Amino acid sequence: MSVKDAFVYGEDYGTSKFKFGPVFLHEKPEMIDNRGYFPSPSQLLPHMMEEEVKEVVVGEEVQKYLETIEDLSTKLIYPMRKGVVRKDDKKAWKVIKEITKYGLLKFFPKRMKEFNGFYVVSSLAAQSPRYMYERIFEVHKEINEEENVPLVNSITIIPQPLAVAISHKAVTCTVIESGHGNTQITPVSRGLIRGAIIALNRGGSDANAITAQILKDIGYSDLAREEKFVTLFKEEVGLLPLDLNMAIDKAKRNPERFGVIFKVPGTSIEVELKEDSWQRFLIGEYIFNPQHEIFESYYQRGFTKPRDTYIAGEEVIPGLASLSEVIIKSVEKCPTEIQPMLYRDIILSGGNFLWRVPLSMVDVATNSQTKIKLMLEEKGIPDVIVRAAENPQYSVWRGAIVYGLSFPEEVEWNWEKMEGWLKLIN
Ligand SMILES: Nc1ncnc2c1ncn2[C@@H]1O[C@H](COP(=O)(O)OP(=O)(O)OP(=O)(O)O)[C@@H](O)[C@H]1O
Ligand SMILES: [Mg+2]
Repeated sequence: MSVKDAFVYGEDYGTSKFKFGPVFLHEKPEMIDNRGYFPSPSQLLPHMMEEEVKEVVVGEEVQKYLETIEDLSTKLIYPMRKGVVRKDDKKAWKVIKEITKYGLLKFFPKRMKEFNGFYVVSSLAAQSPRYMYERIFEVHKEINEEENVPLVNSITIIPQPLAVAISHKAVTCTVIESGHGNTQITPVSRGLIRGAIIALNRGGSDANAITAQILKDIGYSDLAREEKFVTLFKEEVGLLPLDLNMAIDKAKRNPERFGVIFKVPGTSIEVELKEDSWQRFLIGEYIFNPQHEIFESYYQRGFTKPRDTYIAGEEVIPGLASLSEVIIKSVEKCPTEIQPMLYRDIILSGGNFLWRVPLSMVDVATNSQTKIKLMLEEKGIPDVIVRAAENPQYSVWRGAIVYGLSFPEEVEWNWEKMEGWLKLIN
């Protein structure tokens, strides 16, 4: 094994989660929230004065610093929107640097004298502008300089959907990577088919939005404002229906069957869904088909519709487009000859496809693979095969590691090809 192969290190920057870690973690990276807390200076208790005063805190430590719920919106910074950091958002870039450093320091083998830096493979959303690449390079360079140790030997950056295709050893396929902030639909034939990529403005944050609305409607407005709570509730309670009308019909006739009491561990807070238990199905459906007529009344009441997506040229994907419509649109940008192959290997990855299917509900609830297959068949596409990544939330990181192992060390970064290693130390 070469030195490079022993120290390949993957990074997946997501809108809600940062996944990171070296090759020896095998299947499962570390994962922290992609967020940083900027504490107020007056906050320290006297017996804590000795502690280092930090401008920004990341990782598990954030919880120790949280103040009032009102403060969250100004002090707790999530640096990414839809997978991208704004160019001039200084605070956001500070958070990116801090989480990056947090990861590298966590795995830095201090006692290993021969260690000469990780070979970092970073993974960014397919639609990332060039400045994202430049800044990610810079961030790693600065960390090396500030820490005064060679944490990063070389770095390269690959698009997230490519990483997914690599981790599944797929040659011709369609990767759908749906995280918290966006859904990247990417046909692949040996490499990414760039002209066919659609980065849809839709992700787990939209499922959060409809969940928050439901919580408000049933009388839990305060909890609905707390993003972390909403996420937990969504993941535990949300269901993806096989067929929304059928599911609602069954649940309205037999609400106890789908009723739940959701308890927040360690607190007295609980949320109960009884007659309203049919609304659990709205949460999953909204991601796949926000144009279902049931959502019309929500939009009329002022619930914000999913935003339109603008793609290369002047093309607009309406915010309400169903996932099947968008997949077809993307595949149809490719030659007809390969379209059947693209439908025959659709790979789903990302946390937003992790909908749970309780065993007792298989007659009404389903997983993302089945849902996508059914929706495409409904549109007349034959022979659809959809598979889910084994660990959907980790497949980008996994692919980054595989890429790092196979990409030859001597190839230098090239801005035209957007590949190669940028060496940061001598
Ligand atoms: N069991 C679950 N059911 C539904 N949603 C889930 C489940 N588990 C995780 N999620 C959602 O997946 C999303 C996080 O997924 P992921 O880590 O892939 O996103 P990300 O990489 O941070 O974002 P992006 O790739 O869009 O920038 C969150 O919205 C989270 O609530
Ligand atoms: Mg992601």
